Amino acid sequence: MFKLSKFFHFKRSNLLYLVISLGILLWCISIGSAFTHAIAAQPSPILAQSQSLPPLGPNRSTVEAGKELYVSTCSGCHIAIPPEVLPTETWQELLENPHKHYGTSVPNMIRLSQILIWDYLKTNSRPIWLRDAPVPYYIEQSRYFKILHPRVEFSEPITTKSCVLCHPGVKDFNYRILTSEWEDAP
Ligand code: HEC
Ligand code: HEC
Repeated sequence: MFKLSKFFHFKRSNLLYLVISLGILLWCISIGSAFTHAIAAQPSPILAQSQSLPPLGPNRSTVEAGKELYVSTCSGCHIAIPPEVLPTETWQELLENPHKHYGTSVPNMIRLSQILIWDYLKTNSRPIWLRDAPVPYYIEQSRYFKILHPRVEFSEPITTKSCVLCHPGVKDFNYRILTSEWEDAP
């Protein structure tokens, strides 16, 4: 007669070990999967925080609106000047005194336009480098304009009319594109 106990007689203790190890293995797998579930369900505290934090600096859409308003308000008589060529102090003076503008007056400068344009200009310009240095009222006097033109030796006077000589995108307020002679120059 076939007897299971007899058949397994020799290996019974081994079978016991096998069952115990299988049990431990299953336990590990279940703990592991519970752990991953817990992690997936809850984003890490740092991620959760960064998602609810407001963006740094002024609201981006406000700055975009300020940019559009700047270009439309400040390109009526001359080109819209890129903010980075003049220090923040210059822009502040000009915005605070729209009725004393180089012998003329800037129209349509209501309080809201002033605030929005200021947001844009402040975000995109730097304060004066040296303390107590005079505020430049012309691009030609601005240190930042020179710093932005490391390759250029200006022979002609620098005015709002001369930018287009090398910047063909002036009409679209694009100062990245250069004429081919500068684009190809080393
Ligand atoms: C009503 C016409 C008019 C409008 C609009 C106007 N400007 Fe002017 N702007 C002038 C005149 C005129 C000059 C002097 C140009 C000169 O002396 O060669 C000038 C010169 C400037 C200069 C000095 C440019 C240089 O040659 O270095 C800056 C900077 C400037 N304006 C900024 C602005 C800003 C910012 C706005 C919008 C808030 C604006 N302008 C709107 C008429 C205007
Ligand atoms: C004689 C040619 C020339 C003239 C005129 C000129 N620029 Fe430029 N500009 C350049 C070149 C070239 C560069 C790239 C930097 C370099 O190689 O020096 C540049 C770079 C710039 C930049 C930086 C662009 C960027 O990639 O961020 C700004 C802003 C700018 N110019 C504004 C002006 C304004 C405003 C005027 C007029 C008042 C002007 N430039 C006149 C040649 C010129």
